Amino acid sequence: MQTGAEVIAGVGLADRPRKSRWPARMDLTQSLSGLVLALFMWGHMFFVSSILVSKDFMWAITKMFEGYFFFGRAFPGIVSMVVFGVLVIFVLHAFLAMRKFPANYRQYRMFIGHKNLLKHGDTTLWWVQFVTGFALFFLATVHLYQMLMHPGDIGPFESADRVWTGRWWPLYLVALFCVELHGGIGLYRLAVKWGWLEGKDADASRKRLKAAKWVVTAFFLVLGVTTLAAYMKIGYDRRDDPGGRYTPAWLVNPPQAPPPWWWPSWMRETPK
Ligand code: HEM
Repeated sequence: MQTGAEVIAGVGLADRPRKSRWPARMDLTQSLSGLVLALFMWGHMFFVSSILVSKDFMWAITKMFEGYFFFGRAFPGIVSMVVFGVLVIFVLHAFLAMRKFPANYRQYRMFIGHKNLLKHGDTTLWWVQFVTGFALFFLATVHLYQMLMHPGDIGPFESADRVWTGRWWPLYLVALFCVELHGGIGLYRLAVKWGWLEGKDADASRKRLKAAKWVVTAFFLVLGVTTLAAYMKIGYDRRDDPGGRYTPAWLVNPPQAPPPWWWPSWMRETPK
């Protein structure tokens, strides 16, 4: 429908400037990249915590990602390619998130004023997400750069030496809290924003969602701190002679299992 002014000015409907679809596209891309990063971090935490099972198990997980069990040789470059993909998504996500940052001191003071006045749980959560996200700009990029450039230095001894002797543990400790809070809140906000699991009673499901969020965050924080402590302990024990590579005992000396009791004696390697 044309307005009177448009008719007088001779402006047709086709001449009207179209509303841009870009804000919506950017919002969707930010949600999707955040979802991918959060799911990646869940996988990451489980893989890294393989050290809690045994050194051999962590070694096997590392070699699996290097294609060792597929090609019969390890190619750490495969890990670099995955890291590069994560880095691209991370930078995209951070770039899109910057749109939501307070642009100047006035905006910042206004937000703080609202936050303190409202004392609204989800508004405070947004603030936590903003602060942790900002910290991750720096904490995650140095870690990703290390993994991108030295993918072959991942392993039970290699990682533990980096954590302890390389003094990466303070960075990992802070990054762990930031990433778990940020990812947990992010997933919760995604669910609220896009109406996942809303059900019939939106208020009740939001309360349940928030409780689930804290359970998941607490779980990954406990897992992460225990894992970090395990790497620190291994690195500390090796502090006088760091730098070696871990090779499972069974690879150095393949086990010579005795033949089963029912195996005919003339078929044994060394007949008695
Ligand atoms: C493909 C990309 C990534 C790879 C291959 C990777 C690999 C690793 C490895 C092997 C460790 C053990 C310590 C070490 O070797 O230095 C580790 C620890 C850690 N990484 Fe990553 N990482 C990646 C991406 C990320 C991202 C995006 C974050 C987000 C901040 C992150 C946060 C952490 C944290 C917090 C720890 C300490 C773990 C703990 O305390 O349990 N990583 N990572």
